[in-house]
Amino acid sequence: MKIGILGAGNVGQALGQGWTAAGHEVKYGTRQPGSVEEAIAFGEVVVLATPWDATEYILGGRNLAGKILLDATNPIAPGLSGLTHGMTDSGGEQVARWAPGARVVKIFNTIGANMMTDPVIQGQAASMLYCGDDAAANSVAAQLASDLGFDPIYAGPLTQARYLEPLAMLWITMALKYSHGREMGFKLLKRN
Ligand SMILES: NC(=O)c1ccc[n+]([C@@H]2O[C@H](COP(=O)([O-])OP(=O)(O)OC[C@H]3O[C@@H](n4cnc5c(N)ncnc54)[C@H](OP(=O)(O)O)[C@@H]3O)[C@@H](O)[C@H]2O)c1
Repeated sequence: MKIGILGAGNVGQALGQGWTAAGHEVKYGTRQPGSVEEAIAFGEVVVLATPWDATEYILGGRNLAGKILLDATNPIAPGLSGLTHGMTDSGGEQVARWAPGARVVKIFNTIGANMMTDPVIQGQAASMLYCGDDAAANSVAAQLASDLGFDPIYAGPLTQARYLEPLAMLWITMALKYSHGREMGFKLLKRN
């Protein structure tokens, strides 16, 4: 699959490395003039891996109608002080408003970039919770998570990003403030 990744930082590079190793083709959109447009045109799937405060600018005026847009961002307030959106709205829904017509899936936001190329610990794959309104886009997102080694779990429509983003804050604060470290991921256990 051809994947355009906007942002070539911690998350963009980790996802790109993992997918390249799994046989996908990746093109990055960076600050180099024209490269964001090229990555969007290249990608059957476009991944948003930018700092929250750059996201509106990066999406502004682009035509993403019909594209699958995987949103890995978190709307983190300065100084990790919290989230800028919460409970009645979410970054994922804001991204959908900034990219009209895109088939947005919120995914890859609830675990550290360090885990994205190797999400298996002691034989257990970390869960990758995702949410979105388009069934076909959700299924592509799940496959791409699976290709990295995650256990993909559908969490519901895009409004569920209101809860996935606080889950990301839980991971971040546990990893960075409360001594669990970054080598961890959430796992959903189900009886069925
Ligand atoms: N880090 C994690 O563990 C993690 C995990 C899950 C989700 N997230 C979320 O994922 C997003 C990215 O995080 P990150 O840690 O990968 O950030 P990062 O390392 O700072 O990378 C962000 C990338 O976006 C690029 N960028 C910024 N403004 C741009 C613009 N105007 N045009 C093109 N590219 C631009 C940056 O380029 P420059 O280097 O040139 O500024 C950089 O390559 C954030 O929303 C974060 O909350 C992070």
